[in-house]
Amino acid sequence: MRIEYLEREKLFRLTAKDTEYVIGIADERYIGHVHFGKKMGENRCGCLLRTEEAPFVPSKNLRDKCSFADAFPAEYSTWGVGDYRDSCLNVRSSDGFRGCELHYENYRTVDGKPGLPGMPATFCREGEDGAGMTLELECRDKVLELKVILRYSVFADSEAVIRSAELVNEGKGPLYLERVLTACMDMDMEGGDLLTLGGSWARERHMARRPLAFGKQMVSSFRGESGHQDHPFLAVMGQDAGQDRGEIWAMHFVYSGNFMAEAEVNQFGMVRLLMGINPEGFEWVLKPGEAFATPEVVCVYSDEGLGKMSRIFHDLYRGHLIRSPYLHRKRPILINNWEATYFDFDTEKLLEIAREAGKRGIEMLVMDDGWFGDRNKDEGYLGDWEVNEKKLSGGLPYLVEQVKALGMEFGIWFEPEMVSPDSKLYRMHPDWAIRIPGREPVQSRAQYVLDLTRPEVVDYVYESVAGILRSAPISYVKWDMNRQMTDVGSAYLGREHQGELFHRYVLGVYELQERLVREFPELLLENCASGGARFDPGMLYYSPQIWCSDDTDAIERLAIQEGTALLYPLSAIGAHVSACPNHLVGRVTPFGTRGHVAMAGTFGYELDVTKLPEEEKRLIEEQVKLYHRFQPLVREGDYYRIASWNENHKYDCWQIVSKDKREALLTYVQVLAEPNGHSRKIRLKGLDLEAEYRLEGDQLAKEGQIFKGAFLMYGGLLIPRMQGDFTSVMIYLKQV
Ligand code: DGJ
Repeated sequence: MRIEYLEREKLFRLTAKDTEYVIGIADERYIGHVHFGKKMGENRCGCLLRTEEAPFVPSKNLRDKCSFADAFPAEYSTWGVGDYRDSCLNVRSSDGFRGCELHYENYRTVDGKPGLPGMPATFCREGEDGAGMTLELECRDKVLELKVILRYSVFADSEAVIRSAELVNEGKGPLYLERVLTACMDMDMEGGDLLTLGGSWARERHMARRPLAFGKQMVSSFRGESGHQDHPFLAVMGQDAGQDRGEIWAMHFVYSGNFMAEAEVNQFGMVRLLMGINPEGFEWVLKPGEAFATPEVVCVYSDEGLGKMSRIFHDLYRGHLIRSPYLHRKRPILINNWEATYFDFDTEKLLEIAREAGKRGIEMLVMDDGWFGDRNKDEGYLGDWEVNEKKLSGGLPYLVEQVKALGMEFGIWFEPEMVSPDSKLYRMHPDWAIRIPGREPVQSRAQYVLDLTRPEVVDYVYESVAGILRSAPISYVKWDMNRQMTDVGSAYLGREHQGELFHRYVLGVYELQERLVREFPELLLENCASGGARFDPGMLYYSPQIWCSDDTDAIERLAIQEGTALLYPLSAIGAHVSACPNHLVGRVTPFGTRGHVAMAGTFGYELDVTKLPEEEKRLIEEQVKLYHRFQPLVREGDYYRIASWNENHKYDCWQIVSKDKREALLTYVQVLAEPNGHSRKIRLKGLDLEAEYRLEGDQLAKEGQIFKGAFLMYGGLLIPRMQGDFTSVMIYLKQV
């Protein structure tokens, strides 16, 4: 890891392990993007900015400045002064004029990695001196009297480059920020592909790859959350790039609200990648002396396909983003009562589930939605966080005590950001809901969103949650959020500041979760938003795991978890075994397969264990043993994708290898059985070529055999055809 300034060449070079990021300063002090990729070992690489080519820089050819601006590879593009591609920054002056142009002024390097005010950010852990470095490029728009600091950080153990920007109003009047993205990356790339993650409720983060085409291709959200539909991620990749080969440039946004991510192919075949807060519905008033910080973008380059890209993201998030003490700790195997009972439960029913679950080795009971107010369906009482003693006779402390007496821990569900029209809270404070005066606000799941821009609302919400947590020894919270925003208006923010609501709301969520993890440092927090609508790096800063999707069907989960694991370590992916026929899709899958798929995540159960046949209860005991045995490997290991059911429509296969390569775990799911087939050859990845591995597998003929790493990787392992759809096998390999 290194940050250098080459004075003669006017270049900044950030070296992150094997990757370098090079920024060049043109004679007129424009900041240009030279390179992000493999180390070039060349100090004269500034020529890649093409400032010596026609149309030439403005100091040599002022009359064609526009042609220059529209082709220059910018580090932080601005609006309205000749660059017609989409830009990072657009500012309106207090006189009402739009347009912005930045010139470099100076730089400084900082040891370590500074945080961001009130927002999640990557960091160096305490005591890790020298683990990170940051470059700050200071630039200015003289007309607007606006200072912009572009920040770039690298870590000693990562290939990623982290970007953010800070704007400071140095003038005398307010500035109106209409568009403030975090990062821009311009590159020459012909014939590449664009990769994004998308879907819908219960079908989140499916991978979508398509050829890059002329024009703008964008994914975005203005739902007030990162969303089920699009994910704040984008990558461009060479057409030949695949799982283990080819070049990829990726961006991922450390933010939980509205975003945009765009790839624009321009008239010269150049590609511009952009990422930041969605300008739609955004306007921020920056008063004199005030600063505005953007969330971070993680930029990753991989020269070995998607597999290496995923491992860079996983290691970065485990090493420099997830703060929870559970990061490297075994998480308790939980059973959640949602799919078991929905709203129809009471103390006795929950204890019945806990007793049976505890007997089988499950370690925590999580009480989901429906324990407060008079909430017996998904309507009403959100905001009234009072225990329903008709359901929970004896109260919450009694229930928790009984669960603890069984040797189990207790967890609870909240949906703190919401208010139901039918609630005491709403009747008392209708102005605490996000709404536009004179309009009947749109309901979604019969609820409104609380206005977290108001400090008293944040305090009320915090005390509601914290009060319950203080009343009993609760080990876990599932923090849910079940609707997206509409009628975006705040009775608290003045006329001029309505455009700040979306972002200030997200800052409110962050403040709440920050307070929570500070007051309850040992709490295991799992974020959730109607399944996976706020599964983003921002939330990882507060919770080490996020509920991945409301779809718990093992087969649909293959695609969801593949897309999620593209970026997130398996230890962050909330996954449970649920009952069959599956409640969402009606599919019947073997209990074993459901276990294998959930084990590629946090692992837990979401079913009425008291209603299972004895055979399945016995399988739970076996799965619990497997979990205890394999969870350190799953939590800490390197992830390799071997085959994708999404692509081959037949089978799915992934592998986890310990960092020291001494052990590995392979999971293979035969989605559809085929007639007249023979065994399938699977080539393993990431092993030590010279080492010998002993195989263990529940259904494998090769049980106990020993093979060389090179054989398993270059030759392959034969997986016998299994009888029936949705069957699976897990194979454990250990060096002898
Ligand atoms: C949505 C979550 O994703 C579910 O797991 C469950 O907690 C429900 N909300 C409860 O309303």
